[in-house]
Amino acid sequence: MSSASGQHHDADPVVRVEQRWATVSIGIILAMVLMAAFAGIYHELMPQPRVETIDPRTLHLSGEFIESNLGSAVEPGGGVTVRAVGQQYSFSPPCILVPAGTPITIRATSADVVHGFIVEGTNINTMLVPGFVSVITTSFAGPTERHMPCHEYCGVGHEGMWGNVKVIDRAAFMRMAADRRRLSCVD
Ligand code: CUA
Repeated sequence: MSSASGQHHDADPVVRVEQRWATVSIGIILAMVLMAAFAGIYHELMPQPRVETIDPRTLHLSGEFIESNLGSAVEPGGGVTVRAVGQQYSFSPPCILVPAGTPITIRATSADVVHGFIVEGTNINTMLVPGFVSVITTSFAGPTERHMPCHEYCGVGHEGMWGNVKVIDRAAFMRMAADRRRLSCVD
């Protein structure tokens, strides 16, 4: 009896320390939850830095995504802008031609439903959402060829929806660009 109460006396400070630590760790967890909630809500409330909208019903009639404007174009600063459209079940252009060692801006959208836009072996990975322009900036170190499959289920033909990206030597690209307004590997 006496030895049991003695043990109880010895355990008390240990229990107190344990409880103190439990309180501290619960406090830390609560603080982290609050920080995560704050960051999430704050991010949700802020407008996107840049959202460009576009009417998917008139893509082919006017504006930057008409067919004659699709493909790669050299900009005054020396960079290249690629314009592309995804639709069930293909990309226009089906093969994107770009120069190596050059800043590339890809501007793409969808003419119908949500499509995926991914270039295998790179960090290019976005969605083409009808009504919005997806903007990606990138560059390729050297000549290469990459697959560009649609990776967002978009209907019965989804599995067959894919394109290519062909990266060629910058000088060769510029020679081709000299007498063509828009380039793709198709022409
Ligand atoms: Cu387009 Cu899947």
